[in-house]
Amino acid sequence: MAAALLAVLGLALLGAESGSGAGSAISTSISTDGSKTHLTCTLNGSDTEIVGHRWVKGDKVLKEDALPGLKTQYELDTEEGGGQYLCVFLPEVVGKASVNVKGPPKVKAVKKSEHVTEGEGAVLACKSESFPPITEWVWYKVGDTEHQVLTNNSQGKVFVVSTETRTELHILNLDLEADPGQYVCNGSSTEGTGHAVVTLHVRSQLAALWPFLGIVAEVLVLVTVIFIYEKRRKPDEVPDDEDTGSAPLKSSGHHVNDKGKSVRQRNAS
Ligand SMILES: *[C@@H]1O[C@H](CO)[C@@H](O)[C@H](O)[C@H]1NC(C)=O
Ligand SMILES: *[C@@H]1O[C@H](CO)[C@@H](O)[C@H](O)[C@H]1NC(C)=O
Ligand SMILES: *[C@@H]1O[C@H](CO)[C@@H](O)[C@H](O)[C@H]1NC(C)=O
Repeated sequence: MAAALLAVLGLALLGAESGSGAGSAISTSISTDGSKTHLTCTLNGSDTEIVGHRWVKGDKVLKEDALPGLKTQYELDTEEGGGQYLCVFLPEVVGKASVNVKGPPKVKAVKKSEHVTEGEGAVLACKSESFPPITEWVWYKVGDTEHQVLTNNSQGKVFVVSTETRTELHILNLDLEADPGQYVCNGSSTEGTGHAVVTLHVRSQLAALWPFLGIVAEVLVLVTVIFIYEKRRKPDEVPDDEDTGSAPLKSSGHHVNDKGKSVRQRNAS
């Protein structure tokens, strides 16, 4: 099979969003060619000179050029999955349009594993930038028996906070025995479902103390070594008479200063 062309044409009218550039329109298209998906934005005309193009996904700039021209393209791996892409004609007043690439959810763990001390709380998070957005997030813990779905429980130990692009499982007051393990976040949209796994490690409070105890032990050893070294060195040295010579001078200087101060204070009052 040669290149299959799947073109979705959309018209994004400018105006309210861009402020200026009235009278221009951006048409968008998506075509898939085997392993690559090409996104195209075409402006039908512009009064402002175009100085570049930018492609954005979420808050990440994917590509930017400084070329003129009414057309800009972005290529992505079809496997990468869908998402909401934005093409921007520069300067930004010229206009922008979003290109939505449909696909099943690509769910990713924000961090694949978390290490938390018992008694503290953990936040496990997953995200998805897919389009259409996730309509339902579900968390469960991988167990020996059945999957146990985790929802806000009455004791307030577990709660879930989700948006279209991110979900967070909060577990409070971690237990050394019950809470470690693998947690699965499962996101569903109209295009399907996807999931990711986050591993939670819980360490005992004692374990958290070890690095500190290590430092204390090191300091003790150092102090002992210095102490022994000083003890052994002392008797060999001839006591110097630096102290006897300078001490009286220092104290008399002190007196003068004190007097001066009190005089100044009196004058002030
Ligand atoms: C671009 O399209 C818009 C909306 O369809 C239209 O009003 C405008 O006249 C077009 N501009 C040019 C330069 O063709
Ligand atoms: C669960 O609790 C969190 C935090 O209190 C809240 O934001 C969220 O909406 C709750 N979810 C449900 C399904 O009640
Ligand atoms: C995710 O949830 C959906 C809907 O609840 C379910 O059909 C699907 O089997 C789940 N997927 C996994 C991997 O658990």
